[in-house]
Amino acid sequence: MIRLEKIQRRYRSDEVETTALDAIDLCVEAGEFVAVMGPSGCGKSTLLNVLGTVDRPTAGKYLFAGRDLADLGEKQRARFRGETLGFVFQSFNLIDELTIAENVALGLAYRAIGDRAALVAAAMDKVGIAHRARHFPHQLSGGQQQRAAIARAIVAGPRLILADEPTGNLDTENGRQVMDMLAGLNAEGATIVMVTHSLSHADCAGRRIDMLDGRIIASAAGAL
Ligand SMILES: Nc1ncnc2c1ncn2[C@@H]1O[C@H](COP(=O)(O)OP(=O)(O)OP(=O)(O)O)[C@@H](O)[C@H]1O
Ligand SMILES: [Mg+2]
Repeated sequence: MIRLEKIQRRYRSDEVETTALDAIDLCVEAGEFVAVMGPSGCGKSTLLNVLGTVDRPTAGKYLFAGRDLADLGEKQRARFRGETLGFVFQSFNLIDELTIAENVALGLAYRAIGDRAALVAAAMDKVGIAHRARHFPHQLSGGQQQRAAIARAIVAGPRLILADEPTGNLDTENGRQVMDMLAGLNAEGATIVMVTHSLSHADCAGRRIDMLDGRIIASAAGAL
């Protein structure tokens, strides 16, 4: 599904140049659950952002289902994201002024779909927050907010879920719930790439890749 060839991402300011990604080669098959680990600053979020087409590599090739994403313009990228991807972040990134149901509906922005309300209800039901539909984010616990963010990520039925430390702000029990949820979505067919600092959460994945200084230094099958 995903093929990265010699992907490089360099940041340049006046005096300093940082190589966040340095010749990354990576293939992810449809249906895989991949955990990405490595020390702070090694390029994990940059890798996820490139996979999510919110960041462009400075060199290299990104093929998604055989299509070269470098050929897409900004509008097409936004459409690609809306139709194909679901994002989950450490800090939930819910909009405080919107209700939970309205936040979840944001995941449908790029889809021309008739029955939005039914899809939103189904997604909230799936993550167990249907009873909080009319609440606002600050009225929910951290675990509930992350589950709402997952509902927003999955409401349009994405093929690929990109999660950047989705349990980073959660306690053990809520972190476990979120991991069970991601494992369940993977079992239903979603491909997942997840950044984590937790070895036990990485074990939920079928494969783990370790990064250091912008490179992949190891890739190994996980506990699945
Ligand atoms: N917008 C930017 N401008 C300049 N340098 C950046 C920018 N974003 C990231 N970097 C640099 O790229 C490198 C990789 O950053 P990245 O955020 O991908 O790390 P990370 O592995 O996700 O770290 P963490 O575990 O702390 O989240 C770092 O050295 C960082 O300083
Ligand atoms: Mg990061």
